[in-house]
Amino acid sequence: MERRPLLAGNWKMYTTIAEAEALAGAVARSAIPADRDVMLAPPFTALAAVGRVLAGSPVLLGAQNVCWEEKGAFTGEISPAMLKDVGCRLAIIGHSERRHIFGETDAMINKRVAGALRFGLIPVLCIGETLEEREAAQTFAVLERQLRKGLLGITLADGDQLVVAYEPVWAIGTGKTATVEQAQEAHYFVRNLLVDMYEKNIATQMRILYGGSVNPGNVDALMSQPDVDGALVGGAALKADSFCSIINFNKSA
Ligand code: 13P
Repeated sequence: MERRPLLAGNWKMYTTIAEAEALAGAVARSAIPADRDVMLAPPFTALAAVGRVLAGSPVLLGAQNVCWEEKGAFTGEISPAMLKDVGCRLAIIGHSERRHIFGETDAMINKRVAGALRFGLIPVLCIGETLEEREAAQTFAVLERQLRKGLLGITLADGDQLVVAYEPVWAIGTGKTATVEQAQEAHYFVRNLLVDMYEKNIATQMRILYGGSVNPGNVDALMSQPDVDGALVGGAALKADSFCSIINFNKSA
């Protein structure tokens, strides 16, 4: 099954509105191969401005988190309806920085996934083990728990409605990328879990992104793995030239 690659930039808490506009403009003006999708997830404060810059381009707007309620007394949260209103198509959910710095639980992440889907946003559900968990041979157990709890009660009509991102915590922002074998092994494990949880055609259609120190030098090898369907990029997405090289990956032989 051919899956359309998705190259996603997560700008975390890095850009002012002016910086975000300039970066989005450079990406939108670049040559983007027609066979792949590109998403940019700026800080919330820059969503509207970046949305205007991306208007008329194929680049998709994404959010870095999303609440599960449409509206109400939820100080500091942004609702899926608000994200739709500003033009978002996808929302990153359960990023390791949300889990580990802000204490988000699998139950909370599950509610966010359900809320996003209810409003037609595509969740990009992030999962991944810490170094401690990997060294204790807990990687698969952690991935299984995060995936099953994150997707508890979530029904899908097709595999395009949800994206999973495998981001080993030890590879995020460290310059230490998982080897292509480690990435493929984890993605293959996730694919089989999805086959167990959903109908096979849905599970094989769903995209699984790799995230963690992706750069122009390692993207080709990562993308050549059969179950790596894209990349969720942090640091290397903050410069137009490196992100555009990532967008233009060529699978290595
Ligand atoms: P880096 O690419 O900076 O390692 O960040 C990865 C990440 O967390 C993307 O969500």
